[in-house]
Parts: sequence; structure tokens; C-alpha cells
Amino acid sequence: MKKVSVLGTGSYIPSRVLTNEDLSKFIETTDEWIVSRTGIKERHIVEDENTCDLAYHSALKAIEAAGIDKDEIDLLIVATFTGDNAFPAVANVLQARLGLREIMAFDMNAECSGFAFALVVAEKMLRSLKMNKALLIGAETISKYTDWSDRNTCVLLGDGAGAVVLGEGSGEIIDTNCYSKGDLNKYLYGAGTPLKSPENNVGNTVGNIEMNGREVFKFATRAIPSSVKSILEENNLQSDDIDLYIFHQANLRIIEKAAKDLGIPMDKVFVNIEKYGNTSAASIAIALDEAVRSGKIKRGDKIVTVAFGAGFTWGTSLIEY
Ligand code: ACO
Repeated sequence: MKKVSVLGTGSYIPSRVLTNEDLSKFIETTDEWIVSRTGIKERHIVEDENTCDLAYHSALKAIEAAGIDKDEIDLLIVATFTGDNAFPAVANVLQARLGLREIMAFDMNAECSGFAFALVVAEKMLRSLKMNKALLIGAETISKYTDWSDRNTCVLLGDGAGAVVLGEGSGEIIDTNCYSKGDLNKYLYGAGTPLKSPENNVGNTVGNIEMNGREVFKFATRAIPSSVKSILEENNLQSDDIDLYIFHQANLRIIEKAAKDLGIPMDKVFVNIEKYGNTSAASIAIALDEAVRSGKIKRGDKIVTVAFGAGFTWGTSLIEY
């Protein structure tokens, strides 16, 4: 069967930095509270860019890193819940902006697990369809869904994008799995557009993010260890066969607790949450790119990624880079 590898990675972070100190000027919080509870020191948010802009810049870097011609791309998936418009999809607009051929291009929403879900779909499509290369992007402008007066959520979130080009190469996406558990969706959601009718033609509004932080924490600290254990077991690997673990960058305490429960030393766990906060579907993709570019991942290394998010949803991948 055709092997699908990560050929190149890229990421793009908007330039405006919002430090904990900045936040403490308009909500009741402190740098000490945010760092000790989350590990986040600052996050970046967009000023005049939207999700498609972030996706575009990350895509250019991934295409360059993969060393391919953009005409070779057969599939484009953007994982996001913060598209520029209700329609068309970010991927549709981006296909034209990148000057790609007329290819299949669509968005996927599995909230913070979006990139993990899209990786499964892209990998399976490359293996089974007449497609050779895919461009896969996680991109979010969560700042536009954030209630900037709610200290429970606004301190956690940030904007950004990460991209990968997939195709036949020296490495391999060895295994993946993704799950949804929708009965817990009340613990984390972004309220949608209210219903309209001819009798009730009120304007469209999009609600803010609502979260029960403790329930998300409990779920994530269980989901990461159990999904890492099962993907290792299914592939007859031990935890120290893995060179680097990349967990969704939502909270440093979640990452540290999961690593401790798995007996993994923190020097094998990638962390960049202090710079970006939680960038949702972009989180794993940005981390992957930074790990590659900083030399923490080298060709031939084995990595495990775990994303989790609203729903709840979660997704794991075992990759030989
Ligand atoms: N600054 C100061 N105080 C705060 C802040 C803040 N930014 N936010 C909350 N507090 C207060 C609370 O109001 C509470 O006060 P009270 O005791 O008077 O009611 C107190 O701090 C303690 O709150 P806890 O809920 O006990 O804090 P906890 O240690 O659980 O940490 C946190 C909260 C950081 C949210 C944690 O639960 C967490 O990280 N959960 C996971 C969040 C997550 O990953 N969400 C997913 C991402 S969001 C998305 O998907 C888009």
C-alpha cells in the first residue's frame, strides 16, 4: 500500500502580541494566576487578517519546505471552526489564492481536534484515491469568538495557523485514530447563530465560547494517556520508542499531568503554549512545524500527537517523520 509521509511543514502566527500583563489591564487577572494555572505567558491575535490569511502564509511555508510545485497538490483540507465566512469554505477561497489547480478543497470542523481528524481523512484519501499530495492546514482566528471580558476563557486562547504537505516520502503516518463523545458537549461550546423566520427576522450574531474548565481538564488528562497507551500497544511500541510527543497546547498542567501518568520525561514532550496559548485546530500543526524547524524532530524519528477538544473529540497519530 502507498506510504503517506509528512513532506514539509509550515506555520504562521499573527504579529500582535497580547501578554498576560496586557490582559490584566481590562480583566481581573494577574500574570502569576495565568502562568501558574496554564503555563501561558502571551498569545498572538489578528488585527486585520482573517483565517484564510493565516492559512495562506502557513501553506506557502509548508509547500516550500516540502520542495514541491504547488501544481502537484491534489487535495486541500483546512481544519477550522473560525472560517472567514459561513460559506464558501476557507479551503475553497484558499485554493484560488494559492493558485492551485481545480482540486477537491474543503473545511473540517472538529474544534481543537480538527487537524487530527483532517490528518486521518487526508491520509486515507491519499492511500485510496488517485491523489498523490495533500495540503492540510489547521488555522484559527479564535479571537473573534472570544468574550474578552470573560477571564475564564479569554486568557487561554490565541490565533495562528500550521500546515503540512503529505505525500509519498521517506517517513510514514503509521497509525491514527479519532473519537467523538458528543454527550459531553455542554462543557465546551461556541454558541451558534439564533434561529430566524419571517416573523422573527433578527440580525445574525455568533455567540462566545462557553466552557467548564474543570470538566475539560478532567477529560483531557484522561484522554491523552489512554489514547497514547492504546496507539503504542496496537503498534507493539514502548513509550521510550517515541522520540517526541506533541499534545494539544491547551494548558501546561494538562500536558505535564498526562506526561507524568505515562511516565514520559518532559524533555520528550514538546511545549510552546507559553508563546501562543490554545490555538485550537492550529495547535498541533504549529507545534509540529516548530519541532521540525528547531531540530527537535529529525527524519526517521517517531512522534505521537494527541489533540482534544469540544464535543468532546480527540485524535491521536503515530508518525515516522
Ligand atoms: N484570573 C484570575 N482568576 C481567575 C481567572 C483568571 N484569568 N479565571 C478564573 N479565575 C478564578 C475563578 O473565577 C475561580 O474563582 P472562585 O474560586 O472565586 O470561583 C478561581 O480562579 C479558581 O478557578 P478554578 O476553576 O478552580 O481554576 P482551575 O485551577 O481549574 O484552572 C482553568 C482554570 C485554567 C480554566 C483550567 O480548568 C483549565 O485549563 N481547564 C482546561 C481548559 C481547556 O483546555 N479548554 C479548552 C480550550 S477552549 C477552546 O477549545 C476554544
